[in-house]
Amino acid sequence: MLSVAVTGCGMPAAAPSWHHQARHHMVAADHPDASRAGLAILRRGGNAVDAAVATSFALAVVRPESCGLGGGGFMVIHRPGTDPVALDYREQAPAASNINLYRDENGEFVPERIRRGALAVGIPGTVRGLCYAHKKYGSGKLTLAEVVGPAFHLTGNGTIPIDEHLRLALCGLYADKVGGHAVPETEQAFVRQIGSYAHINEHYYRITNLKRTLYAIALEGEDYFYEGPIADDIVATLKQFGGVMTHADLANYEVREFTPLKFDAFGYQCLAMPPPSSGGAVIGEAFNLLSALGVQPGQSIDKHLLAETLKAAFADRAHFLGDRSPAVLHDVQRMLDAERATELARRINRDRASTTSTWGNIAISDDGGTSHLSVIDRNGMAVACTESVNLEFGSRMRVAGWGFVLNNTLDDFALDATTPNAFGLRQSERNLLRPGARPLSSMSPLIVLKDGKVRLVAGASGGPRIISSTVQTALNVLVVGQSVRAAVAAPRLHHQWLPEKLYVQPFQDVELLNELRRKGHTLQTRRDIGHVQAIERLPDGTLRAACDPLKGGRPAGD
Ligand code: GLY
Repeated sequence: MLSVAVTGCGMPAAAPSWHHQARHHMVAADHPDASRAGLAILRRGGNAVDAAVATSFALAVVRPESCGLGGGGFMVIHRPGTDPVALDYREQAPAASNINLYRDENGEFVPERIRRGALAVGIPGTVRGLCYAHKKYGSGKLTLAEVVGPAFHLTGNGTIPIDEHLRLALCGLYADKVGGHAVPETEQAFVRQIGSYAHINEHYYRITNLKRTLYAIALEGEDYFYEGPIADDIVATLKQFGGVMTHADLANYEVREFTPLKFDAFGYQCLAMPPPSSGGAVIGEAFNLLSALGVQPGQSIDKHLLAETLKAAFADRAHFLGDRSPAVLHDVQRMLDAERATELARRINRDRASTTSTWGNIAISDDGGTSHLSVIDRNGMAVACTESVNLEFGSRMRVAGWGFVLNNTLDDFALDATTPNAFGLRQSERNLLRPGARPLSSMSPLIVLKDGKVRLVAGASGGPRIISSTVQTALNVLVVGQSVRAAVAAPRLHHQWLPEKLYVQPFQDVELLNELRRKGHTLQTRRDIGHVQAIERLPDGTLRAACDPLKGGRPAGD
């Protein structure tokens, strides 16, 4: 019992800044305490997977708005000298899911039902995923309790300090509540629960009961969550508000293990996440397309061509991708095909922005939230891991007694492939809600190798902007030759094909913005375009990390 608490003590310091250089090992997460948790485990002899698991459990404490035990995720693992693996522990639609649950008495879809409340919740995968990763790919030197230790330590007195990102997320919660929307009963309870405390002390967020949850998982293992008392309370909570998740859904939930998506780009070998992530395929297609457009290492990236590339690749995402199926996997290979990239490149005008109809007529969804972490250990093992509860605070439901937020990831499914949506567009049939399926994701954990050794580990949070921010960070490092610090700090742009807007972060060069307008792009400024957490490894072994300053993370490494 005592070991859980004791192992968390004496946590190392995170870097004093959002960037850091180290010699042996490094963790870059989007909260300083989470990076520290991973480093504590690396110092105890854990490998990159042990550290990633510890970091993720810590994020479950300090980033309740982004990820946690009620969510899911993806993990790509590079193992020097042996095969890489990709773990899919994304949330899954319960067996009794049915699109008719989301219709009103007139047969019309009620989108709020899949966005908030009990019917928005997918079977959570994070606990199973982390336990699986630790058991199968951890060093074997540290018990689960030892790896959970730093997170347990962070639960302290049952509160966490509210940092800027959490503050903004809480403000969003209250803004929604007073914004005239029809707020479901579950959400009102959630806001009341959090609000009652925040009003007493606006500097601390109460993580009620999370300590006992971590304690139980650390000592009893994942079955306590999937088949024990926590499962009982998840099912009861959801049932009370019209949910359909059962004990069997939780007990039968499995981690899926795949070979990562592999592609070469600009002289590097990339390991990325296959479906149900769209990230790997879109990143690979974007790199191919830019190569076909003549982009080469040592050059700066033409932002008009980058925007056109993102449009084309996001359109393919919407048309081709969904949960794994032979058809989807076939089309992923098409997206990665160099000849097809050449053909798409011919349709891109170097002087004029294309219209959206150039690339088809399928709609895509938008969202935010999520958390990414990157790790490299002293043996060159690397982990890129992205996790989410989907929108900030997920379904806005907590399981009474256990303190974690339940995801609203079923909102990443499309409900309807026949009726045109608000843009007059149809949605892809491949991502329709089906019992037992996992929804298409933008989460894009990426590991880049040079001659078999890790060169870059990167990924981001921020809905579809995850993909464009990861693409630009990787291009800045691998093609432009920037340090990871400059690459993460550089202002980004984002185009997701629909809507017909090119989003740009502030502080872009005015001449560049004028040129983009001249070429026909409709620009819109946006403060955040993904929050990237990245580590690069230089040829002499030096590690350099950067945590996106807009989310407040700090790397930790020695
Ligand atoms: N829920 C965010 C994503 O998976 O794309």
